[in-house]
Amino acid sequence: MSGDEPRETDDDSRDKGSAGAESADSSGPVQPGSLGMTLGLLLAFSLSACGGGGGFEPTPVPTPAPTPVPGPLWSEVAPLRDAAAQSGRLVGAAVYSSGLLSDPTYAGAAGRHFSYLTAEYEMKWDPIQRNPGVYDFSGGDRIVDFAESRGMRVKGHALVWHGATPKWVESLSPPELRIAFEDHIRTVAGHYRRRVYAWDVVNEAIDDSQSGLRSTVFSRGLGPDYVAEAFRLARKADPDAELVYNDYGGEGLNRKSNDIYNLVKDLKQRGLVDGVGLQMHISAASFPAIADIQANIQRLADLGLQVNLSEMDVRIKDVPGDAVTKRQRQRQVYRDVVAACVAVPRCEAVTLWGFTDAHSWIDSTFGADDPLLFDEQYRAKPAFFGVEDAYLRR
Ligand code: XIL
Repeated sequence: MSGDEPRETDDDSRDKGSAGAESADSSGPVQPGSLGMTLGLLLAFSLSACGGGGGFEPTPVPTPAPTPVPGPLWSEVAPLRDAAAQSGRLVGAAVYSSGLLSDPTYAGAAGRHFSYLTAEYEMKWDPIQRNPGVYDFSGGDRIVDFAESRGMRVKGHALVWHGATPKWVESLSPPELRIAFEDHIRTVAGHYRRRVYAWDVVNEAIDDSQSGLRSTVFSRGLGPDYVAEAFRLARKADPDAELVYNDYGGEGLNRKSNDIYNLVKDLKQRGLVDGVGLQMHISAASFPAIADIQANIQRLADLGLQVNLSEMDVRIKDVPGDAVTKRQRQRQVYRDVVAACVAVPRCEAVTLWGFTDAHSWIDSTFGADDPLLFDEQYRAKPAFFGVEDAYLRR
């Protein structure tokens, strides 16, 4: 949520913010007889009358920044899932169950536009097993019920992630940890067997600053083979699910994406992994080269893996310029990144990490922003049409 929210007007024109941009454009030629010319003459006269200096300083008239024209409502634009289906792909969103249950606008927009749902929070270890041995599947079940009733697929997220591990797990001895780890994966993957299409089995295991695994409660307590072990357990509990390794910061070509590549290559050779999720939390002000993103997707696909851009959002706070410019830049970035997926046959889905700027983890993590496809009033932003264009190969 940032301060550059669209002004409410009656103008329902789609995107580009053209009306706002034109009305604020002060650089065009001044027409004879126009208000601009009259004001200009008056200003020149008063300046010369004052000798161009001394007691009179004209107050500069600030140029109003262009304001985005509100886009059409979520219910007025063609379902994005249809565009995705035309390219043989899924379009996903991370969701929370109380929104689906009690907010008709949230539920309506989710149901209309997406074909693949992920629980943003409710299928992680902490909410599912906050206390040892006590499982609570209520949130995840509601999301799966919603998806099933609308013909959507579900991606479980995530069986093993240091970021959402309950406190009690941190204090276990290594043998206790092994038991808890096995029990959690078996129970959760078993519970959702045949109801999820894919699972993020291990999330964010690669270190940010040096090659190799991140030091976590799992790597320390179970040793580096915990990643393979998690996949083995998940396969046993749900043999039909596509098993995915998911991470961030390895979207383009760099040390981390090489590490991810090597990890999944090894897992694939052992028959343990089926897919890779590249999170794609990016800023429109600086992000990996599109050619590198596509080359990275391609090399993963060449291993025989399915690829999912799994948590996409595009921040715009740091893009220079006014709100209209930021949104146009965001549209372009969404289009180009999704097009990089659409260019590779095994890139099967793009999942957005939320869909309305009214609910995004970005605000509390990176500062107020507007990173998603719909604004806070659930109006389609230029970004929405950027994603649609990419799926339709425009
Ligand atoms: C975030 C959620 O969006 C938040 O609501 C939650 O509190 C913390 O996790 N990478 C991931 C996601 O794999 O699970 C994270 O989701 C965002 C970063």
